[in-house]
Amino acid sequence: MSAESGHRPGDSIRDSSRPKALVLHGPNLNLTGRREPQIYGTTTLAEIDAALQERAAALGWDLAICQSNHEGALVDFLHAHFGNCDGIVINPGALTHYGLSLRDALAAMGVPIVEVHLSNIHARESWRHHSVVAEIARAQIAGLGWHGYLVGLEALDRLKRS
Ligand code: DQA
Repeated sequence: MSAESGHRPGDSIRDSSRPKALVLHGPNLNLTGRREPQIYGTTTLAEIDAALQERAAALGWDLAICQSNHEGALVDFLHAHFGNCDGIVINPGALTHYGLSLRDALAAMGVPIVEVHLSNIHARESWRHHSVVAEIARAQIAGLGWHGYLVGLEALDRLKRS
């Protein structure tokens, strides 16, 4: 073992010893706080992301956040962090219900995934009840508004420590 790096040959090399979580927001979530506030609330995505960064720092995690209206961009973001993250919190937006390439990219990551929805998708239109992500997610949080993201991050931290 090198006294300087603390790494043994074969150890995975990480820039930081801190765990890293990814947060992904799917299509239309950039409008959170302004679109259908009676359903999705009045807190903006920038405010949600700031709260997530603050909670991640308090928990000792690094956080990389991505919002995109394009499924392929979300897949590319996941690939960019392949083998270099410890958990994922994702609100896939409408891709929840049919985004199979996103679902496969998530499954490929091999880390715990928490699916988050601002609204309770099970209490809405029937087409929102099915999630193609749920079967590969460790947990689904729906209906807690933006606090659901914080619960998701805390769940990843608990899983990492258990
Ligand atoms: C959503 C629920 C989805 O059905 C919808 O398409 C969204 C947001 C939620 O956060 O409640 O865009 O994921």
